[in-house]
Amino acid sequence: MAHNATSCASKWGENIIVLPPTAQLQALLTVIRDERTGRGDFVFYSDRIIRLLVEEGLNHLPVVPQTVKTPTGVQFPGVAFEGRICGVSIMRAGEAMEAGLRDCCRSVRIGKVSGYRCDEETAQPKLFYAKLPDDIAQRYCLLLDPMLATGGSCLKAIEVLLEQGVKEERILFLNLIASPEGIKNVQAKFPKLKVITAWVDEGLDAKQYITPGLGDFGDR
Ligand code: PRP
Ligand code: URA
Repeated sequence: MAHNATSCASKWGENIIVLPPTAQLQALLTVIRDERTGRGDFVFYSDRIIRLLVEEGLNHLPVVPQTVKTPTGVQFPGVAFEGRICGVSIMRAGEAMEAGLRDCCRSVRIGKVSGYRCDEETAQPKLFYAKLPDDIAQRYCLLLDPMLATGGSCLKAIEVLLEQGVKEERILFLNLIASPEGIKNVQAKFPKLKVITAWVDEGLDAKQYITPGLGDFGDR
């Protein structure tokens, strides 16, 4: 994996990357957390955070040297991305992150997995469905879900990817808000997974929702 100037491993470990808590990011998160924020603004400001997450995620993909000649006739010793990627969204809220990925990677292939937190007591996801690119085992996977609460949905999705032959170290989970519990759970089971999150909140409430969180992302 490539190392770069912007990536900063967090107190959670080198594979848990939390975006720098700039005033800009905090302001964006404040808008989407506010219960008074309507759908239009919620989508607009979430998209801005998603874009930051995607750009940071791409920073963690490997590159190889590539020299090009510029119109001034001079050689520029640059780099090019090495591997192929795909997006995998966890339905339904994760689908809201697909456009942000497409904005940065125009023709990226995107698969979907779905799990539902049917059981309100355990919050365990049930009913799993997956539609994934045939050659996913050869790709880096950007797994998309805005909320990491108990970690149940993320863990299920990763299991599906691993069953399809994707290497754990080639999965990058892009996420807007995480709970400490969710981070600990995914890290304990998949230590080589990279998590890129915009913010880590205080914890979970009695309904296993992230607190302070932003409520149900999919509904909003
Ligand atoms: C939300 C969210 C995650 C999951 C997080 O989806 O988008 O997939 O909950 O919780 P967990 O870490 O405890 O699994 P939800 O089940 O609410 O479905 P939705 O996307 O249809 O809103
Ligand atoms: N799903 C959400 O949308 N929000 C939470 O806080 C937890 C699960």
